[in-house]
Amino acid sequence: MAGFLLPPVPVRSFDEYLATDTGGLGLQRATEIGPRATIEEITRSGLRGRGGGGFPTGRKWAGVASQADERRYLVCNGAEGEPGTFKDRALLRANPYQLVEGLVIAAFAVDVSGAFIALKASFTEELERLTAAVQEMQAAGICRDCTITIVRGPDEYLFGEEKALLEVIEGKSPLPRLFPPHEHGLFATDVHSGWEGSGRPPAGVAGGANPTVVNNVETLSNVPHILARGADWFRSMGTERSPGTVVCTVVGDVARPGVAEVELGTPLREAIDLAGGGPLPDRQVKAVFSGVANPVVTVEHLDVALAHDAFEAVGSGLGAAGFIVFDDTACMVEVARQFSRFLYVESCGQCPPCKRGSGEVTLRLQRIEAGTGTEDDIAEMVGWLDKVTDGNRCYLAVEEQLVVRSVLTAFPDEVARHLELGRCPRPRPAPLAKLVDLRDGHATYDEDHPRKRPDWTYSDRPELLTEHDL
Ligand SMILES: Cc1cc2nc3c(=O)[nH]c(=O)nc-3n(C[C@H](O)[C@H](O)[C@H](O)COP(=O)(O)O)c2cc1C
Ligand code: SF4
Repeated sequence: MAGFLLPPVPVRSFDEYLATDTGGLGLQRATEIGPRATIEEITRSGLRGRGGGGFPTGRKWAGVASQADERRYLVCNGAEGEPGTFKDRALLRANPYQLVEGLVIAAFAVDVSGAFIALKASFTEELERLTAAVQEMQAAGICRDCTITIVRGPDEYLFGEEKALLEVIEGKSPLPRLFPPHEHGLFATDVHSGWEGSGRPPAGVAGGANPTVVNNVETLSNVPHILARGADWFRSMGTERSPGTVVCTVVGDVARPGVAEVELGTPLREAIDLAGGGPLPDRQVKAVFSGVANPVVTVEHLDVALAHDAFEAVGSGLGAAGFIVFDDTACMVEVARQFSRFLYVESCGQCPPCKRGSGEVTLRLQRIEAGTGTEDDIAEMVGWLDKVTDGNRCYLAVEEQLVVRSVLTAFPDEVARHLELGRCPRPRPAPLAKLVDLRDGHATYDEDHPRKRPDWTYSDRPELLTEHDL
């Protein structure tokens, strides 16, 4: 039975949630079997993180729960900044109660001192729904002694990166810290490798490494259903190594952009039809990207199954199952330029090869797209792509390398044609699918991002990159 996460009509109150098949039963079962068996059940279910990396959730919980530290924390990542992705917001709009129940179960299983849910401050509708749900569930006594804090964060892409997310929760800018949350968690003051954490513990709380679990909204939303119905039920859907369902987003060159929950293992082509209404009339799909984080999937792999191993087998990654579709009218050089520019602007600059390298690559793609590029530009771009990840603190630099390299490899003829013609052979806009809203078959992209500068300020109008900016 697919379709348990996204109800056909939104769940409007806690009473309505309790009246659903499983509302409240997951927490009841977790309480009966205890923390250790709860983690074992999640491990047995094979649930993998839905935030992009696909890390096994049970293993993540067990790792933090087994650490002897006095304090542990739990963070729900609701930053949802990956272009082409809207599924967490869809889940929060449709049923925030299952997320809160999943959070309370995780907090109980890992025995944490506090739980946080972090969303962008601009997600006003989702914040309203979530705040009301937490209040109702607290009033009903469901949250017990688990303190739940809702944090409103900035619009920056890096806010969703887990090491930057912890910084934001501590009141700082979204600059990824050095160590991962399970080693250096919230409000940690431990000294690691001669480096002292700068986070201040809350008043009256002593310091420590405070290992922290970070899980995505969709990951935690699965948890109460797994506890209520059992790991075998969950494994009856999806594939051996990617069980369950996935809430996928489909935008770009499609008839009706949208979000749909499908079983893992569903062919990508079918997901594009189900969630996005298929390609536009008389057009052929040319390329699909899972966000800006993975290499391109080309048309010959359109029947790849939505599963981590299947996507890896075709040289890509499932990511957060947010798919940006391009048809035969799109220019792949322009697509690569948009993606590279986004990553350049959003790079925080703590690692010079990432900021400088993604800027140099963007500049070259801009020249090639405008018809003024040369073979030297291609060679320099390839050189920068080799270096862009040197000393990288986070995965953003790897995204730049993977995405741009994959376009150059898959579409060399399109690059060469720009050089031959001295202009773009397919001049049409291919705006970056950074979603501001997605409803009723209509996707609204962020119109401000083209004005965002690499230092995260905004100019009055979109500006092209020049050598002086680097
Ligand atoms: C640049 C960047 C941005 C990210 N943005 C998000 C995001 O918006 N939401 C999210 O859940 N994970 C995001 N991630 C992944 C998180 O770092 C982390 O892996 C995830 O929240 C873990 O949860 P999961 O195990 O439940 O997937 C991002 C990663 C990177 C490198
Ligand atoms: S790799 Fe890039 S985005 Fe990540 S911390 Fe370094 S400079 Fe910032």
